[in-house]
Amino acid sequence: MQVIKNIKQMSSLSDKWRQEGKKIAFVPTMGYFHNGHLSLMRKGRLLGDVLVVSIFINPIQFGPKEDFKEYPRNFERDSALAQKEKVDVVFVPDEREMYPPGYQTFVEVTKLTQHLCGLSRPGHFKGVATVVAKLFNIVKPHFALFGLKDYQQYLVIKKMVEDLNFDVQIIGCPTVRESDGLAMSSRNEYLLPEQRGAALSLYKSLKMAQDLFETGEHNAKKIKAEIINFIKTFPYTQIDYVSICDPETLEEIDEIKDKALMALAVRVGKARLIDNLILEVRK
Ligand code: PAF
Repeated sequence: MQVIKNIKQMSSLSDKWRQEGKKIAFVPTMGYFHNGHLSLMRKGRLLGDVLVVSIFINPIQFGPKEDFKEYPRNFERDSALAQKEKVDVVFVPDEREMYPPGYQTFVEVTKLTQHLCGLSRPGHFKGVATVVAKLFNIVKPHFALFGLKDYQQYLVIKKMVEDLNFDVQIIGCPTVRESDGLAMSSRNEYLLPEQRGAALSLYKSLKMAQDLFETGEHNAKKIKAEIINFIKTFPYTQIDYVSICDPETLEEIDEIKDKALMALAVRVGKARLIDNLILEVRK
């Protein structure tokens, strides 16, 4: 496994691979790997002849009061895990090379970002779309894999790829959970032992919404009200949003017909956690 830090070197290697007719699979990450990341690598390994994983904690997707500085980092552990997954290249670009002085170009997906996390994290998706566009131009992947826990991010990137004619296939992969249901996230690291039970309120809420939906409650307002009351019974929690929306446009819906996305963001102590589920009428 090669560790590449230099943009030109990564780009030249990708050019060489493409000339050799190799299919490039790519997993962009901010590191601090958990099983969710590893599942993306495994899928990438199957799809591509070569597999690139980037580790870059992208400063421009964090708000001024967010956790950029304390975002967990452990390169030694990450590279050992990547090696085990038979990753060909770990690409670790340098912040100064990604955003040199005078940098001034950004990518904005305007509508999908006006919902859910886009409301409480202004500028976040602009930072994500920009860095992913840059990484795509450097790594030149045929396939790029993203976890569906970040469902909005997945939609934003798919839209960017469509609108800007990037020649890459975006693959969304199922959320990987702890045995009790907690969605895996590098930010779970922030949870204190006494907050772990409260963190489970997200998964339990999704299950509760699914039960309500499957037993005939299709009124989104009523489901949301139940969920909000339920989350409030857990200590340490502060609700950011609970949404039932269209899974393609992310616009809020009142009455669930065939399908809806139930998405929520809850602060539990220092950790801001997100999770989601598709509510669907079983055929
Ligand atoms: O999901 C993430 O880890 C990040 O948002 C991404 C896609 C690597 C962009 O920095």
